[in-house]
Amino acid sequence: MVKHIGILTAGGDSPGLNAAIRGLGKAAIDGYGMRVIGYKDGFRGLMENRFIRLDGFSLSGILTVGGTILGTSRDKPHKMTVGNKILDMTDVIVENYYKNHLDVLVCLGGGGTAKNAYRLAQKGLNVITLPKTIDNDVAMTDITFGFDTALGIATEAIDRLHSTAHSHHRILVVEIMGHNAGWLALGSGLAGGADVILIPEIPYDIGKIAQAICRRSKSGKHFSIVAVSEGAMSVENAALLDHAQKRRKNASNEEESKSAQDEIKEIMAKQVNHSMEIARNLEKLCKLEARVTILGHLQRGGAPSAADRILATRLGTACASLVEKEVFGVMIASDGDNIKPVPLEEVVGKIKLVPLDHQWVESARLVGTCFGD
Ligand code: F6P
Repeated sequence: MVKHIGILTAGGDSPGLNAAIRGLGKAAIDGYGMRVIGYKDGFRGLMENRFIRLDGFSLSGILTVGGTILGTSRDKPHKMTVGNKILDMTDVIVENYYKNHLDVLVCLGGGGTAKNAYRLAQKGLNVITLPKTIDNDVAMTDITFGFDTALGIATEAIDRLHSTAHSHHRILVVEIMGHNAGWLALGSGLAGGADVILIPEIPYDIGKIAQAICRRSKSGKHFSIVAVSEGAMSVENAALLDHAQKRRKNASNEEESKSAQDEIKEIMAKQVNHSMEIARNLEKLCKLEARVTILGHLQRGGAPSAADRILATRLGTACASLVEKEVFGVMIASDGDNIKPVPLEEVVGKIKLVPLDHQWVESARLVGTCFGD
């Protein structure tokens, strides 16, 4: 029997998605004689049964292309906006899976996508996920594709900011993506020689950052680069958030839970523009001009790096082999030089944060980087 694969890409786009689609599609079609379709725009396309047939022609020439030829969305099967309502569309998705005679649905995405795929597995569908995200925060895999490319882009940005910071004797604050994980800011900060690296895992004290910058000034270095992860928080805000999260967890009724949620929203609202606030405060405390660069979606766009092309191709082709062996309900993880299937229940609900004793943190500290702690 010819096996039928459905592929979708969900969540934020990430360099390497097309390389993974190509790897999976080519290995499945040419290597195993399978048939492959690709759903448009993530779980929404699956719900609306919008798909394209993937064949030698459509899979050709996409290895080096950024984004995803399938389109993506952040829609969740169980909470989808339809008209002006938010509905659970899981049953429609299950119906479409069978309508297209799928043997497996392969979802390319991050932690949220793994959770959504797992929910579909619990409804009886065969699913496999491939870990992609520039944040590198998916549990149970060494690395996600997209991370290496974003790391290169952020590092190059820091390199470029160095010369202008140096020429103008300024503090240059650069905000780097990563959601609640500091991998991208830490990696690019280390590679680019940032003087200060602020990550969500290590709450910062603005006074300590100012001291580090003033020390540099006194030693004749009248410029500093501050790499700030978008999720980095001051000690004060981190304590408030922790308190509100505990309140929400222990709430004994709706009202308590709502009030805790409102408090969390308020704290998170303060996070918007926090790089600006860091720059403003450092300007005052260090008596140096400060400027802010927010790298934003530049970090996700464009061609994947060689490392991401290789990783995505390895994961995609390994996926075809696992479909052939009928290994389902797994995420295909990178494990050193190997690839291994990890049961989805071991992945969902977890996030891979930077361990405080991670070697990158230790090395950065040993070359004098300030973490604001
Ligand atoms: O998960 C990838 C990511 O780029 C995060 O680093 C960032 O917080 C988020 O997506 C931004 O999402 P959007 O593109 O939907 O604004």
